[in-house]
Amino acid sequence: MLNDFIFHNPTKIYFGRTALSHLKEALAEFGPRVLLVYGKGAIKRIGLYSAVMKELAAAGKQVTELAGVSPNPRYSEVLSGAALVRENEIDLILAVGGGSVIDCAKAISVSAYCEGDAWQKYWVDFRPLENRVVAVASILTMAGTASEMNSGSVITNEAAGIKEGRVFPPEVCPRFSILNPEYTYTVPKYQMASGIFDILSHLMEQYFSGEDDNTSDYLLEGLMESLIRSARVALREPTDYEARSNIMWCATMALNYITGVSKTQDWEVHGIEHQLGAYTDCAHGAGLAAISIPYYRHIYKDGLHRFIRFATRIFGVCPEGKTGEEIALEGIDRLRDFVSELSLPLSIRALGATEKMLPRIAETVELGGGYRFLSREEILKILQDAYRAE
Ligand code: NZQ
Ligand code: ZN
Repeated sequence: MLNDFIFHNPTKIYFGRTALSHLKEALAEFGPRVLLVYGKGAIKRIGLYSAVMKELAAAGKQVTELAGVSPNPRYSEVLSGAALVRENEIDLILAVGGGSVIDCAKAISVSAYCEGDAWQKYWVDFRPLENRVVAVASILTMAGTASEMNSGSVITNEAAGIKEGRVFPPEVCPRFSILNPEYTYTVPKYQMASGIFDILSHLMEQYFSGEDDNTSDYLLEGLMESLIRSARVALREPTDYEARSNIMWCATMALNYITGVSKTQDWEVHGIEHQLGAYTDCAHGAGLAAISIPYYRHIYKDGLHRFIRFATRIFGVCPEGKTGEEIALEGIDRLRDFVSELSLPLSIRALGATEKMLPRIAETVELGGGYRFLSREEILKILQDAYRAE
């Protein structure tokens, strides 16, 4: 059953090999002052920086730059960008990079004209957005987060030791995003794998909730199937356009809110990973992979029918002669095998976690869950299992 819902996503997508040729026309509706936000240098190495600067010049824009945004962007970087927006009366923040750069651009957008401390207001107290926001747009270079078509912004506050995500109203979504799968060819294999697991995790966080006959679940299954098939091709052949284009669109579809309609959703794996990330600075998708296996082993009995459906439909587990629990567990084993296919670690030890960190990480995780709420003791147990995993 589909419950009542309102769906609104304002991002215009330009997709494909020629997508950048639309940049000039896309820029036309914004004023002349652009803040270009990017990461630690990948866009210069792949020649995208000069191509974008050329388009911006042709469109008559005055460009201010914020370079060096970190993977897992920091609040201090947000504040630097917010100051640039105010000083230069910026009309458009153009993010060129992966999810971290786009998330940082959105955070700058909501913080620039915020009265008081934006971190406290929006990422701690979750207050409604009440100040002016500056338009954001993106040119995506790495598939994973779907930040290119959503209003989420995940920021790490180093001083507080907290990594926190906030979903803002639709006005914070990029106004347009340019998606050329060829830009992702140069993403290092580990980052590509991390992005792929992030996409799968977004799909699973929505899938593992509810039991009714819901169109969203069929969309989620289709996307999982396409993603896993394309991931296997891209692992062998990183410049396979068909695989890379499928992965890129799967990423966007997995968290542009369309597959989540009428779903209660889980997001506890993400809640745990974000705190792991605050302590270890690990790649987001790699953290999700190591946490997902013990997490799903811990909760599968609470959503047994859905875990059976996942095992048989997504990983082709043969149900004959097996109990429901056996089928469900075999599905989780296949998921673990997929993590290994991606060459991602199964233990959070390999991501820099120490045994001493685990209680502190568990203490700051936001409690939630898809089939039931977990206690803090259960979160700690999952972290310990993820730590001991081989
Ligand atoms: O810093 P640069 O030089 O740009 O290098 C990046 C970075 O080192 C590199 N890279 C990106 N495109 C490349 C490339 N290298 C070579 N060629 C290219 N074409 O890849 C590294 C990782 O980039 P990053 O942007 O950090 O990765 P990702 O897209 O996975 O973003 C992760 C961040 O997004 C948050 C995560 O928590 C994390 O902070 N998330 C945001 C969400 C959202 N907005 O909805 C949801 C997600 O669940 C997630 O939490
Ligand atoms: Zn994610």
